[in-house]
Parts: sequence; C-alpha cells; structure tokens
Amino acid sequence: MTTTIQSSTLAVPPPKAIPSHVAIIMDGNGRWANQRFLPRVAGHSKGVDTVKTIVQECASYGIKYLTLFAFSTENWRRPSHEVTFLMRLFFKVLKLQVSLIHKNNVKLVIVGDLSAFPEPIRKNAAQAQQLTENNTGLVLTIAANYGGRWDILNAMRLAYENNPDILPENMTEEWLSPYLSMSYAPEPDLFIRTGGEQRVSNFLIWQLAYTEMYYTPIFWPDFDQQAFADALTWYRFRERRFGQTGHQLLESQIVKNA
Ligand code: FPP
Repeated sequence: MTTTIQSSTLAVPPPKAIPSHVAIIMDGNGRWANQRFLPRVAGHSKGVDTVKTIVQECASYGIKYLTLFAFSTENWRRPSHEVTFLMRLFFKVLKLQVSLIHKNNVKLVIVGDLSAFPEPIRKNAAQAQQLTENNTGLVLTIAANYGGRWDILNAMRLAYENNPDILPENMTEEWLSPYLSMSYAPEPDLFIRTGGEQRVSNFLIWQLAYTEMYYTPIFWPDFDQQAFADALTWYRFRERRFGQTGHQLLESQIVKNA
C-alpha cells in the first residue's frame, strides 16, 4: 500500500546527537532584575551577555542554526519606557556587535514585521544582514516583532499573491512553507524556554510541530554554558519518533548501522 505523505515533516531526519537548529525564548529578564532590586531593563541588558555566550557555544558545538525570540508582536503591550529601551538595546547591539558577528563568520538574519520599527533600526538591520549574508558559519536568526500567527498569515498572503488561481485542493504544506519567514532553515530540533513558563507564546508555531521542548526555571541572564550543555544532554537522550513507533526507529538504526 502506498501512503500519501501529508506533512513535510514526515521526511524523517536521522536523529543526531547535536541539534541542527536550536530556537530559544529568552525569558526571565525582568524577574532576574527584580530579584536584585534593579529596574527590569537591567535584566535585558544583562541578557545581551547571555546572547553572546550562547552564540559562541552554538558555534563551538557545530550547531548550524540558532533562532532567538527578541521581541514578540505582543511585547508592544509593555510599558512604553520598556519598549523604547528594548528598541534602543536592539539598535545598540546591532551597531556594536555586527563586526564581531561578521568576524566570526556568523550570518545574521532578522525575521518579523520590521515595518513597525523606527527607521534607524530598519536601516541598521538591513546593513547587518547585507554585511553577513555570505558568511558560512552559524546562522543566527533574531525574531523581532515576530509572531507565529503573523508568519502563517503573511505566508498565506504571499503565496496567494504569487498564485491567485490556485485551487483549494492544491494548497498544501509544500505550497505554503516556502513563504514562511524561516523557510531557509530546517525546523528546530530543540526549543528552549528559560524563566520557568511552559508555553510557546506564539513563537514559531508552524515550525515547532515536531520539536523537542525543553523548559528550565533558570532566568535568561543566568543561562550559562553549563545550563546550555544540560539542555543539549537532555536533547541527546530524547527519542525523536516523528509519528513512528520506538520499534520502527530502532529497526531503522539497526539497518543504518549494519
Ligand atoms: C523576556 O523577559 C525578554 C524579552 C522580552 C527581551 C529579550 C531581549 C534580550 C535578551 C536582549 C536583546 C537581544 C538581542 C538578540 C539583541 P521578560 O522581560 O519577559 O522577563 P520576565 O518574564 O521575568 O518579566
């Protein structure tokens, strides 16, 4: 019997010890600061140091894609001074770190609806992406003003614009997925959320369908080399089935290793 493949994810990737793509929600900056009687924004500043550490760690483990949720479509609801601070921080990081990013052969990609950002940030973001576009090392994606629902709707619009005569029965995952903002990357193997909350918060909702989800109570500013190594160890011991049985997986491993 031939089986119709319904999902693009059913092309089962071989399980690997090290994930190819790690996606992170960097949560807990505000609580980290509160615990120290500091303003919330001090947590965001400290969080930038963790970003640097984790970028270096990913590069040294040979992880190919790292995606960070920096600013969600819902973050606009925060107090205006915090939103302004986050914008300025984003601008500063882009400006000051881009040469270091480039020197380390990292390719920077920014996804999300940047049209809502001030012009200097958009200009900086475009320049940083242009400078690093031919780099062959880690692909660092920053999701800014990003929301998973926005991404899917945006992809629908683009796909429809490109092919307005399409019949509903031809609207498949393969038809839509090239229009998603992260179509250049494989789906994340490992999702990490720091700060203790256990939810996806409208991050890469399409792309996380088969991702291993790792939640840690550690606040983002405290998420260090060891904490990242612990997440990778946890991942190594996960059995990724993609809908198959454990027995089928074992069989395919035996055939592969024969
Ligand atoms: C969530 O913590 C964090 C954010 C909304 C912003 C994350 C930004 C950075 C780490 C710095 C900029 C990063 C880049 C890549 C340029 P929270 O404020 O929700 O913390 P809480 O849950 O404790 O309140």
